Amino acid sequence: PLRRKLARSILTWFDGAARDLPWRRTRDLYCIWVSEIMLQQTQVATVVGYYERFLAAFPDVRTLAAADEARVLRLWEGLGYYRRARQLHAAAKQVVAEHGGEFPRSYEAVRALPGIGRYTAGAILSIGLDQRLPILEANTIRVLSRLIALRDDPRSTQSQLTLWSVAEAILPAERCGAFNQALMELGSEICTPREPQCATCPVAVCCAARAQGLTKEIPLAAKK
Ligand code: ADE
Repeated sequence: PLRRKLARSILTWFDGAARDLPWRRTRDLYCIWVSEIMLQQTQVATVVGYYERFLAAFPDVRTLAAADEARVLRLWEGLGYYRRARQLHAAAKQVVAEHGGEFPRSYEAVRALPGIGRYTAGAILSIGLDQRLPILEANTIRVLSRLIALRDDPRSTQSQLTLWSVAEAILPAERCGAFNQALMELGSEICTPREPQCATCPVAVCCAARAQGLTKEIPLAAKK
């Protein structure tokens, strides 16, 4: 019941507050994949233009797989972390070789592609297909740590286990992709590192850090 209410509050807020981003207008797994790889280490505002140029040049997996690596890297220039581009290119070749050019739909097959970890696989399949898979990344680590008033370092092995299990537990039965994106949006727009905007947060009433006056202390800062 608490879980249902939490999901409903977050989704209702997201329906009104979601930014209109190009990768939110598609359900194409390839496009969502490209967006998620770009978003791993790069800000949303920077990614938008790169995403559009990249997909204009390589509109589908087969085109990307057949492209020259030099051309792929040129379209990545300025984004940094070029290993991402090389792995994306290698993974596209693997999708053609092993899946007939269709981006796989099973979690195991997606995880087996180079450059795709638990976060990225969960993001692609929840956003693209509404599969009930959790995500955990910088923004949602902060949101969830505050919701449960996590008092340990969120980077510790124990905390990571706890946070993944919370991320799984609060997933609704439907609209998992919207829900996961809503959690990220909440982290980037409302539940910010400093001065979180609790007055406009849709889940402030169920936030343990807020109840305990600990939003400034949680998540715990990295030890120096
Ligand atoms: N960061 C990573 N994935 C994202 C998404 N789908 N929307 C907004 N920010 C993100």
